[in-house]
This record gives sequence, C-alpha cells and structure tokens, in this order.
Amino acid sequence: RDGGVDRYEIVQRASTAEILPGLRTPIWGYEGIFPGPTIESRSGRTTIVRHRNELPVPTVVHLHGGRTPPESDGYATDLVLPADGRYLASAGHGHSGMADPDAVVTTGTREYTYPLRQKAAMLWYHDHRMDFTGPAVYRGLAGLHIVRDAEEDALPLPRGERELPLMITDRAFAEDGSMRYPSLDPSLRIVPGVEDAYAAGVLGDVLLVNGAPWPVAEVSATRYRLRFLNGSNARRYDLALTPPPPSGPSFTQIGSDQGLLDAPRAHEHLPIAPAERYDTVVDFGAYPLGTEVTLVNRLGTGSTAQVMRFRVTRRANDDSHVPAKLSEVERLDRAQATVTREFAFRSGQFNGRHGWTIGGEAFTPTKVAAQPKLGDVEIWRFVADLHHPIHLHLVHFQVLSRGGKDPAPHDVGRKDTVDLQPGEAVEVIARFDGYRGRYMFHCHNAEHEDMGMMATFKTV
Ligand code: C2O
Ligand code: CU
Ligand code: CU
Repeated sequence: RDGGVDRYEIVQRASTAEILPGLRTPIWGYEGIFPGPTIESRSGRTTIVRHRNELPVPTVVHLHGGRTPPESDGYATDLVLPADGRYLASAGHGHSGMADPDAVVTTGTREYTYPLRQKAAMLWYHDHRMDFTGPAVYRGLAGLHIVRDAEEDALPLPRGERELPLMITDRAFAEDGSMRYPSLDPSLRIVPGVEDAYAAGVLGDVLLVNGAPWPVAEVSATRYRLRFLNGSNARRYDLALTPPPPSGPSFTQIGSDQGLLDAPRAHEHLPIAPAERYDTVVDFGAYPLGTEVTLVNRLGTGSTAQVMRFRVTRRANDDSHVPAKLSEVERLDRAQATVTREFAFRSGQFNGRHGWTIGGEAFTPTKVAAQPKLGDVEIWRFVADLHHPIHLHLVHFQVLSRGGKDPAPHDVGRKDTVDLQPGEAVEVIARFDGYRGRYMFHCHNAEHEDMGMMATFKTV
C-alpha cells in the first residue's frame, strides 16, 4: 500500500509443484506457484502489479474482466522479454513472423496499472502472448484477482472461510508427473473435421481445483459462497451437486462474470465454458450431517465426471443469507444500440494449415475488426461453427438472445465471456466505455485463440 495505490510484485518463474502425490511437476508460475497468488483489490482504488519475467520465454499479462487502460491490458504482442535476455540472444521474438509496429515490448519487467473503476467481481489474470497462450496457461500462468466494493460488503453473504474461490482446470500428466501438452485425450477426436488433439483444444483427464486434484473440503452445515472459474484451456463443464439438497436449489446464483446479479437465481446445474465465472451460494445446511456432496461435471465421463467433494462435518451458526435484491444492474436495451456487428467464428485454412478464424481472418495485430465509438452501445452478433466461448476485453455485456430465442437461464447478468454452441448465433449488447485504445476479442478456447481465433477492436 502506498497512498491511494496498492502495489504488488510478481515474479514469473519456473519451479515444481507436488500436484499428484509423490511426484514433482515442473510448472511455470506467478511467484512459482499454481494458481498464482490471489490478489484482492478495492473497486475504484488503483492496483499496480509489477511483473518480472524470469521464464525462458516472453510473456504477456492480461487481467481478464478488468476495465483496464490499453497499455496495461496485455495486448498479445506487448511482450515482456525474459529478464536474463537469453531468449533474445538465442531465438529473438519474431516467432510468428508478424511485425507489429504498435507493440510495446519491455525487457525483464513491466508495470501493469489497474484503476479498477468497476464493480466487485472475481477476475483472473493469465498469460496472453500471441500464439502461445495455451501452453503458457497450461503450465500454470493463471491466478485470481478479486475486486471488492462497499455495495457487496454490505450484503449478508457468507464470508471469510465460507467464501471459496474455486478455479477449475484439467491437465494431463505423464508418468513422471510432468504435464502433457497437448494431451492425448481420445474424446477430442469427436470434433468433426479436426484431425489433431491440439487444434480442437487441449483436454486433460485430471481435474484440478485451485491446483489440487479432486480435492475434498470439510464444510459446516451452513451456507457457503462458491465462486467458480473455469480456468481450463478448452474443457467445458456442467456443474451439479450429487446428491442434490433434499430441499432448496443446488446453486443460488448471485453473480456472473462481472459481479452481482440484480436478484438471485436458482439453478440445478451450471454449464461453464473456459473463462466463465459463476458466483453462487450453496446451503450445506440443507444436508444431514455426515453427507458427502460431490460437485460433478455432467459433461464428463470417468475421471472427468467428478470435480471435488464437500464433507458436511459440523454444525455451526449461520448468520448469512441471500437477500432478494443484490445489486442495481443497468439493463441495456436494443434501442440504445448505434451499430450491430456480426462476427463468424469458424474453422479455416491459412498458411496452408488448419486454423481458426473470426470473419474468415486469422489474428493479425495490425488489422482492426471494429472501431466502436467511446461510450456507444453496440450489439455484437456472434455465429459459430462449433463450441466457442467468446470473450471481449475492456467491456462487460449482456446476452440479448441465444439461437434466436431468449437467453438461457445461466446467461444472466454482466458477462465478459459467452459460450456459443455449435451452429448457434448469440447476440450481446455492450457499452464501449472506459478507455480509448486497442483491445482484443477472441475465443477463450486457448488453442483456438493461439491458432488465430482472435481479433482487435479499437475504441475511438
Ligand atoms: Cu481471459 Cu483475452 O482473455
Ligand atoms: Cu480478457
Ligand atoms: Cu473456439
């Protein structure tokens, strides 16, 4: 803390972690751990994070969900080169042969400034280097960044040890404990027209929650705030509780990607695509003492069908509850939109290889796909060939329609990532305010992103 600013220093370095019992897994971690340290900030108070790159590759840090000035947003070519310069000497950084005259490249360190003029929400930070986000995040470059504000503090939600941020990821491991990337999960082969495991998106057969495989949490028979993030490269989950509570809903959703809903919503299951978040309250008090509750993944089979378990072991007072009104959410209306843009997310060929495209183009930093006027409300219509979780930097949006119908129950609230189903069209509406500059939007399947499914918009 100094004056009106919170400062952090993070060293990105290679290390090992005991993820599977008795084995050391080489990782790349923020501070050498996976997930990286959780940062907590206050809304409206600037957080400055100084990153030092001690890895053997260039990196880029992006605060996902952050309303961040462009120079700190982690544009994919704004590289931080390794501190020891060895990478420079051996390989240079023109890996993809794409020159970007607007890139701001630093060596060793970079300060990222986050004004956080936004509502309380669970954000996350992760690597975003062009062409290499998938492998970097897979090796461990991801962490949570929680923003709090007075509005949320005033609510009687479960807090302290009864608030559990849960970053769900999947990884594949070799026998010696090292991560396998890309993995060889045969379920990938079901994607039509995509030959190799990498192109479809890398899946693993071990599910990790906050870096631990299938963990067990002992909970008291009270309400808990479970804050889910799907931090996986490509795996989608459909979360449910087994057994479901004898009375009441499984999940009371109180927030989405970008913070609190206007009012709570009940769900029996929650589909969650890469980078999506759900803020929920689960009442373990609805279960008899001694119950073991499994958080299951209804899209998984075998080892990927279970995420973690909760053991309801003790009675305790519960003075929390979920109020009927949570927050003021401004509803954006179609009539406010000045422009409707359409973007197709499709498989494509470029440079003689299979890739993924937006509007028929693979990511090229010098191309600008859209230039919203600062402050304007726009409708963006996305169409997809296969599953693509679409994410916009800088802004949050509301889902207007899905497949020509009303949004799905889980589309509610302020979001920054929306999962497109195969063949589906989704409309979102956003106000492009905050900062002028260059930002990205992309598929958050990390391999799709690395294989071109990313584009630039500029607020002007
Ligand atoms: Cu989660 Cu462009 O990123
Ligand atoms: Cu982002
Ligand atoms: Cu995709």
